Amino acid sequence: MDRIKIIGGQRLSGTMPISGAKNAALPLLIASLLTSDRLTLKNMPNLADVALLARILRNHGVDHLIEGKRAQPNVHVGETYHLTARDIVDTTAPYDMVSKMRASFWVLAPLLARCGEAKVSLPGGCAIGTRPVDLHLQAMKALGAEIDIDAGYVVAKAPKGLRGNRIVFPKVSVGATHAALLGASLCRGETVIDNAAREPEIGDVAHCLIKMGALIEGIGTSTLRIQGRDRLEGATHTVLPDRIEAGTFAMVVAATGGDVVLEGAKRSLLDTAIDALVQTGTEVTDTPTGLRIVRNGHHIEPISVETQPFPGFPTDLQAQFMALMTRAKGTSVIRETIFENRFMHVQELARLGADIHLHGDTATIKGVRQLKGAPVMATDLRASVSLVIAGLMAEGETMINRVYHLDRGFERLEEKLSACGAQIERITG
Ligand code: UD1
Repeated sequence: MDRIKIIGGQRLSGTMPISGAKNAALPLLIASLLTSDRLTLKNMPNLADVALLARILRNHGVDHLIEGKRAQPNVHVGETYHLTARDIVDTTAPYDMVSKMRASFWVLAPLLARCGEAKVSLPGGCAIGTRPVDLHLQAMKALGAEIDIDAGYVVAKAPKGLRGNRIVFPKVSVGATHAALLGASLCRGETVIDNAAREPEIGDVAHCLIKMGALIEGIGTSTLRIQGRDRLEGATHTVLPDRIEAGTFAMVVAATGGDVVLEGAKRSLLDTAIDALVQTGTEVTDTPTGLRIVRNGHHIEPISVETQPFPGFPTDLQAQFMALMTRAKGTSVIRETIFENRFMHVQELARLGADIHLHGDTATIKGVRQLKGAPVMATDLRASVSLVIAGLMAEGETMINRVYHLDRGFERLEEKLSACGAQIERITG
């Protein structure tokens, strides 16, 4: 199993290219089920999760062809996927697939919309809390589907297709909003989604669905209005930049000190996190093609944050921000309001000498003068990258085990960091 070895203490300088967003790439791949025509997706990130979902979709009848370019550490390259689901050959998503890749549960909506039936395994437990799917089912029921739960499967039927309706979500959910949007696009009549998630990746998927023929208003707001179509067409769409990767690298530079341009990063996707970073004493300026992140000598100010749905502080940057706060000059408080149990990085950060006290959904972090390298274990995607940040700040060697979690969501992480002067290498085997 691969490991990552880091020798901390290097300041970073140079350029880091930002890849296409994983959280848009996944639902966009799933949107290919909605049409028998070709869907071309550009700027796709080269990630384990994306490749796995494409393989899973093949079981439903989606052929894919990937046009790749040779990856380089400091140049922005993306892959182009050509996807065609001429015939849906299987409307069942079995447990062994959905348990490997939670987002593959989202095939429920397009399969129902296109074939009038779907049988999709419940995702089961997850390392970051229970993560139920009740809101997904609420959305499909509102669109006219009959739903049964049988032996761990959601068995859904809509023999005459889905029909538009009002969906009022009691809670903001990114996945359930994607499901509602995908279903409502290939559907008779108008759907209004209230309390929709406003994450930019939802807007990106909506823009692709518009190119495929759906009419969608309210993008970026919490009310989406969709005029469905009885047939959607092929389209070509370019995936937006990954705001979580950009925010992570910005936090890396804030942690190590240095001067780095994040090529392709967009401030508007990341306002709240940038505000927090600026308050820590990091300079963030716009460049014609990205964002420049600078921190010189200045100590790290302790800043308290609370995770919230977009446009609030993203839960997917919580672990990284906590890593940064371990070296702040004073005490900060981080409250996680989106997921229960999303603090698995705390005990690993403590192995490097961090002083963190957990109470319910709140972590209190007392900044320490120095972290010391140690062997640690990656537990989930975002938790793992917080260990990379801590390792880059720490004195001496940090060895991160189980890095396959990182490969799920960060493209060529060690290459991009070492090109800017970080001492980080992958040890294979
Ligand atoms: C997506 C992102 C993930 C991010 C999360 C929150 C993708 C592939 N993943 O995950 O990176 O951390 O949004 O920004 O885009 N919930 C319910 N019932 C449901 C669905 C969700 O109670 O039917 C709850 C969840 O348990 C959680 C909250 O709603 O507490 C938000 O979850 P949701 O926004 O759905 O997260 P995901 O779509 O799974």
